[in-house]
Amino acid sequence: MTTDPATDPAAELDLDAARAAIAAATTADELDELRRRFLGKKGLVARAKESIKTLAPDQRPAVGRAVSTYSAAVEEALGARAAGLGPAEVEGPSLDLTLGGHGRRRGHSHLVTQCRRDLEDVFVALGYRVAEGPEVESDWYNFEALNFPRGHPARAMQDTLYVDLGEPEQVLLRTHTSPVQIRVMESQPPPIYCVMPGRTYRNETPSPRNSPVFHQIEGLAVDRGLTFGDLAGTIEAFTSAYFGQRVRSRLLPSFFPFTEPSAEFALSCVFCDGSGCRVCSHTGWIELGGCGMVDPNVFRSVGIDPEEYSGFAFGFGLERMPMLRYGVEPIKTFFDNDLRFLIRY
Ligand code: DAH
Repeated sequence: MTTDPATDPAAELDLDAARAAIAAATTADELDELRRRFLGKKGLVARAKESIKTLAPDQRPAVGRAVSTYSAAVEEALGARAAGLGPAEVEGPSLDLTLGGHGRRRGHSHLVTQCRRDLEDVFVALGYRVAEGPEVESDWYNFEALNFPRGHPARAMQDTLYVDLGEPEQVLLRTHTSPVQIRVMESQPPPIYCVMPGRTYRNETPSPRNSPVFHQIEGLAVDRGLTFGDLAGTIEAFTSAYFGQRVRSRLLPSFFPFTEPSAEFALSCVFCDGSGCRVCSHTGWIELGGCGMVDPNVFRSVGIDPEEYSGFAFGFGLERMPMLRYGVEPIKTFFDNDLRFLIRY
């Protein structure tokens, strides 16, 4: 078999050159052009096939096979290159976005929101519902209906911020989440099992543990036959769910106008495990919030019969929980919006 280019049509078919040309194509138009040049009606393959006829019959099969192999290889190279061109390249010239990008950080919930959701989950698992109330409240919901009569000394302890609206000292920024108890009891009959998280305000000078703006979470259960034992068990359940089984809780007598009897609840110190350290002032206990059995006067103010139903309630500062769990201090860290804090937790 001769290899004279004049007589061997396959000699013109240089596969390496074809592949190089295809690999260099950067647009769909260029690829179309190459397809026409190699595989089109008047392309190289078509011309080679045409000239096979001019060969001696014994030479035709070998040259025919060489042309088919070439044609299939070119077809494959064109297909592979087309797949390698992204949609933007297929459309035409484009920006190369593959180099030098900046990683984008995804945001996440604030630590207070994380804590609120964790606690909501614990209570929802215990059969509680989540409710919310307004931050701007009336004197009735924040005080009066909660058995804080006008002029009662317990009002003075709440450092209230009043809103300049309506009658003097009738509209205020709620000082606790307890008014939501009243709203929930007004809106549905017992049995009630509800937690009420939210933002609260007090006219207080900022200190490491106190901020004029903070959050509380309130709990309320109203049913037939609820006892102080149910309250103590519920407090034990959510504190150990949040801090782990090693943490114990205890109740000490206290006073709140809306509960009788009332108690303060404390946790065994999460830092020293109750043996006494600087954080717990060497008492082994860290005070968390208030609680008690719903006062009959509160039931009367919302039309629930205290002879038929009993209930317990509790409330505490939300920031205290992650402050203790992660050692975050001062409390203003939660409100500064410093990115180093926001990213870390
Ligand atoms: N509202 C009280 C406060 O802010 C905390 C509290 C005490 C809530 C006793 C309660 C409770 O529900 O029963 O100081």
